[in-house]
Amino acid sequence: MAQDRPQAVAPPTTSPNGVRPATAPPSADPNAGYAKAIEINHLVKKYKNVVAVNDISLDVYEGEIFGFLGPNGAGKTTTIKTLLGLIFPTAGDVRVLGKPAGDIDVKQKISYLPESPYFYEHMSAREVVGFYGSLFGLSGTTKAKRVDYLLEQVGLQGAGSKALRDFSKGMLQRVGIAQSLINDPKVLFFDEPTSGLDPVAHRDIRDLILHLKNEGRTIFLSSHQLSDVELVCDRVSILNRGKIRRLGHVEDLIAGAHIEIVADNVRADDARLAQLREMTTGVEQAGNKLIIQTDATTAAKNRVLDWVRGGGGDVLEMSQTRRTLEDIFYETVHEGEVEEGTAMAIPRQGVK
Ligand SMILES: Nc1ncnc2c1ncn2[C@@H]1O[C@H](COP(=O)(O)OP(=O)(O)OP(=O)(O)O)[C@@H](O)[C@H]1O
Ligand SMILES: [Mg+2]
Repeated sequence: MAQDRPQAVAPPTTSPNGVRPATAPPSADPNAGYAKAIEINHLVKKYKNVVAVNDISLDVYEGEIFGFLGPNGAGKTTTIKTLLGLIFPTAGDVRVLGKPAGDIDVKQKISYLPESPYFYEHMSAREVVGFYGSLFGLSGTTKAKRVDYLLEQVGLQGAGSKALRDFSKGMLQRVGIAQSLINDPKVLFFDEPTSGLDPVAHRDIRDLILHLKNEGRTIFLSSHQLSDVELVCDRVSILNRGKIRRLGHVEDLIAGAHIEIVADNVRADDARLAQLREMTTGVEQAGNKLIIQTDATTAAKNRVLDWVRGGGGDVLEMSQTRRTLEDIFYETVHEGEVEEGTAMAIPRQGVK
């Protein structure tokens, strides 16, 4: 894919030095009536015979960090580009801050960190960020102060004068984030901000994203780093093959919807084991022990307990399992593939 230039696409913004106060809710709830920062209604985007985005609808609320997830080719970047007004929907409607995507007022208040930001290598970080400041109408000491502030915010205060050709990938990513903040944006679109970074840089950028949320900004974050997403996002959607397959609060998606029961000394022939597999979501054998996973409902638990006791066994442990976003992601993408008949025939360890 061709490298994208960061989009600093607007004339001056109101208060380049100021940051918005931390008024955003910690987790926006659609029922609480928060203002919508992003609205996507039945968006379809086709490229010749490829349907990159296939009728998706989604709202993001002001002050949220929204994780826009999906495997390679799912349609994430395509969606982000329609939200930025860089490409046009084939069908459907997208709005940002209540106005159609691409609206000139809106462009002043948003920014974009592309998947692979591209900068002129001979320029320094200060020059690059300053250049974007000029595009937004900043000049003189206002611009210099803003640039210094942003370089410090992204941890580049000591490296502002160095040519970018001498920068590591992590440092370039920081430059990208600094330039994306030059217009004090209300809504930030980050496409893979932590890809290819070492663990320290990862953590720094993750912390910075949280800091930006605390400043009241809305962040639309596309990322394959699911552990980061789990830590920073309020809600996520999982896109696969152009359709949204899951959408919800991270906490709800990863909540322990399963119970793990460890049973010992159960007498069970193949027929009884098959019966157990039928009524649960996973069975593993470890010596004399059986590790059984089932839904966290009372009925499901009772069925397993009856089965264990029916075989003269003991229940050693019962615990609620906490799933990770990676589990949810895997299941969601796998389900989509099973529906469409292309799943790999390799079962996941520990899952029947
Ligand atoms: N300009 C284009 N012309 C033709 N097809 C395109 C174009 N841009 C994207 N596509 C196709 O649209 C689909 C979605 O691509 P998109 O880049 O939106 O995916 P993505 O979710 O961002 O993937 P990744 O995680 O790899 O960045 C893919 O099948 C891709 O090949
Ligand atoms: Mg992409």
